[in-house]
Amino acid sequence: MNNVKVTYVAWSDSFSMGVKQLDEQRKELLAFVDGLLHPIADSKEEASFWDTIRQAEQYVKDHFATEDKYMLLTRFPGYNEHKNAHDQFVQTIADNMKCLKAGETPIPEKFISFMKNWMLSHIAIMDKRYSDYFWNITAF
Ligand SMILES: [Fe+2]
Repeated sequence: MNNVKVTYVAWSDSFSMGVKQLDEQRKELLAFVDGLLHPIADSKEEASFWDTIRQAEQYVKDHFATEDKYMLLTRFPGYNEHKNAHDQFVQTIADNMKCLKAGETPIPEKFISFMKNWMLSHIAIMDKRYSDYFWNITAF
């Protein structure tokens, strides 16, 4: 995996929702993605890359469960759409893992670029929509 052009992912305060637990989890998720980019850049073993994906998968699920809890508690009207986006993302990770088990190695660069783009756009668009709703109903 030499000569891979790497764009590292960093947290930006513009992603902040202002809810500590959710912000901390999002920071961790982006740190995971950033961490996944390093073995690619350093041309390390693909096995360690997929081990990290397995850990990231569990972390993603935990984070989505927390977000789901907040959305349900606050009766967010966009809950179904948001939940579907989460479910599809988890399914894509599971599909890649299935390929891996079947001996068809997914291309790490392609997969990590999908994860990175999905997370950044999800945080910027869908999570932001929920964040606006959350602060609208809790403002007084
Ligand atoms: Fe979300």
